[in-house]
Amino acid sequence: MLRISGLESRYGGIIALKGVDLEVRAGELVTIIGANGAGKSTLLKAVMGLVRREARAMTFEGRDIRGLSPLEIVRLGVALVPEGRQVFGPMTVADNLTMGAYLDRGRRAVVRERLESVCALFPVLRERSRQLAESLSGGEQQMLAIARALMAGPKLLLVDELSLGLAPVVVHELYRKLMALHRQGMTIVIVEQNARLALRACDRAYVLATGVVAMEGRARDLLENEAVRKAYLGG
Ligand SMILES: Nc1ncnc2c1ncn2[C@@H]1O[C@H](COP(=O)(O)OP(=O)(O)O)[C@@H](O)[C@H]1O
Ligand SMILES: [Mg+2]
Repeated sequence: MLRISGLESRYGGIIALKGVDLEVRAGELVTIIGANGAGKSTLLKAVMGLVRREARAMTFEGRDIRGLSPLEIVRLGVALVPEGRQVFGPMTVADNLTMGAYLDRGRRAVVRERLESVCALFPVLRERSRQLAESLSGGEQQMLAIARALMAGPKLLLVDELSLGLAPVVVHELYRKLMALHRQGMTIVIVEQNARLALRACDRAYVLATGVVAMEGRARDLLENEAVRKAYLGG
């Protein structure tokens, strides 16, 4: 579904990605782990066209996406849950969700159907639909951010820092929801600093270290890997 080779991205003099190769097959649940500053967010933003990037190849469902804008990439079926959630605080939950379907705003039946399905996944969003997004708890805001991304009707969902700043019980709930979505067929990439949790939940993993893929493999193999345990799982 997504194929990336030799991906590079820089911020002025800072080289954030130094030739990343990565693949996601349809239906997979993949995690990208790595320390703070490793380039995880830049990688997701590069896929979305939110930062300048160069690559030997970068395709989504076989189509070259290197020259495409974020708008065009969302239209092809990729959606991002950004780091820090970035919900529209002064807007209601309902309006946040509607904004997620902005590209399909003319197709009322489609938008209504998606609204039904995200509210089935996250019933709390239906209960809170008239409430301002900024009044939600951190976990509810993360649910809203995921639901807003789903409102775009993606085939590939990119989630940047699912668990950051959230209580363990909330994080487990979020993982349960994403795994349910995965079972329904959604292809998902989760970026995580909480490596243990991500490796337990996902099928396959990439370890990003200072802009390159340091390791990749089956998540359960990486959980057992000595180098991974030392560097990311606290020994
Ligand atoms: N807007 C920016 N301007 C300059 N440097 C940036 C910017 N965003 C990220 N960086 C740098 O790029 C590198 C990768 O950052 P990032 O992709 O955010 O890493 P991660 O998400 O893994 O923590 C880091 O060295 C970071 O300081
Ligand atoms: Mg990040």
